[in-house]
Amino acid sequence: MKYDFSTLNKRVSDIAIQESLRSDASVSITYRNYEGGRNILIMLIYLSPNVSITEHEKESLKLKCTNVLRNYDECSADMRLLLHSVEIKCVVIQQFEKNVESPRILPNMQHKKEKKRIENVKNIIVVMSGKGGVGKSSVTVGIALSLRAQGFKVGIADLDVYGSSIPKFLEVRGYTIMENGIFIPPIAEGIPIMSADFLVPEDSGKVFSWRGPMITKMMDTILSLSRWKKENVFTDSDLDYLIIDTPPGTGDIHLSLLEKYDLLAHNVRIVLVSNESMIGLSNTIKSYELSKKFGLTLFGIICNMKLEKKDIVHQYIKNFDDINYLGSISFYVDLVSDACLFYKNAMLISNNEENSIHFRGEYEVIVRNLLALRCFS
Ligand SMILES: Nc1ncnc2c1ncn2[C@@H]1O[C@H](COP(=O)(O)OP(=O)(O)OP(=O)(O)O)[C@@H](O)[C@H]1O
Ligand SMILES: [Mg+2]
Repeated sequence: MKYDFSTLNKRVSDIAIQESLRSDASVSITYRNYEGGRNILIMLIYLSPNVSITEHEKESLKLKCTNVLRNYDECSADMRLLLHSVEIKCVVIQQFEKNVESPRILPNMQHKKEKKRIENVKNIIVVMSGKGGVGKSSVTVGIALSLRAQGFKVGIADLDVYGSSIPKFLEVRGYTIMENGIFIPPIAEGIPIMSADFLVPEDSGKVFSWRGPMITKMMDTILSLSRWKKENVFTDSDLDYLIIDTPPGTGDIHLSLLEKYDLLAHNVRIVLVSNESMIGLSNTIKSYELSKKFGLTLFGIICNMKLEKKDIVHQYIKNFDDINYLGSISFYVDLVSDACLFYKNAMLISNNEENSIHFRGEYEVIVRNLLALRCFS
């Protein structure tokens, strides 16, 4: 979207001139969407060469200008949302030379930005696929329940903010409470779960229609503002695994997750999920290619809804040296009709029905292979 910054430029310039410098200054504001998905609003404050300014004054000028921007309300709703949700970088440039351009400054800024770690989480598993409906959320739940059954402390972060299915698969409803500025995830089957669904009231209809910056904010809330260490559940210890369910595609959420979070510090494993269609596979591979660009190395793939005798996914990924085949999940008709009941029967009670034993067995293989991925790092 194109924004018109002319009124903002004028207003911030006025404030800068009036309050900070008592001399001539001009301001230029631009909005950039950088490779890697980072959105920054850049405010360049140009000072003429004869203005004498200390470092301290520069900092207070930057702060003042940022505040003017954040509190500017005579603008469109879109612009207001942008001002509140993006990162603002303020740079003071003393114009000894003409044509001082912002791009010269920005690569450094991007470099300096530290990636975030997620508090109280040891390892991260990200479930991805460029293709919708192949079973990412089902696989997230399956892996979580299987790991939990083996005694690991597991949590689920549902980043599919438009199409949350984790709360439905595990039958969790409600509205999350906050304690000391941190959200407390609801617990289902001993698994803390955080989803956008729990952050909005029931009567909102849970229909979200947000633009990129809001989506990224929601992601940050789910990952960084949730208390993954739940004292009374895990006797005050960190999660062994946080499993992150992502929406289909390679969009805002994926880019922001890969760019802003220090996933490598959490030994991240990327679990790709595909069905046996070539369209499914080629779109799933896009998620792998995107993650590789961010330096991630531990990839596994699961063939979900397997119908064919020969495993097409297994054959296909032989072309990729660094994608490990984790196993397959057969097509279960009952998983389509009532996923919640199916999980309960297959994973949560000792059920000796053939289907349940088979389903549990398939996940045990997948989880074993997934944990073994560590050996190749
Ligand atoms: N192995 C399976 N056998 C039969 N049905 C399955 C299987 N795995 C998932 N399903 C069903 O397929 C549907 C889509 O699954 P799911 O929601 O997990 O996909 P998704 O990739 O997360 O979708 P989205 O891209 O919308 O997030 C659900 O109804 C689910 O119950
Ligand atoms: Mg899903």
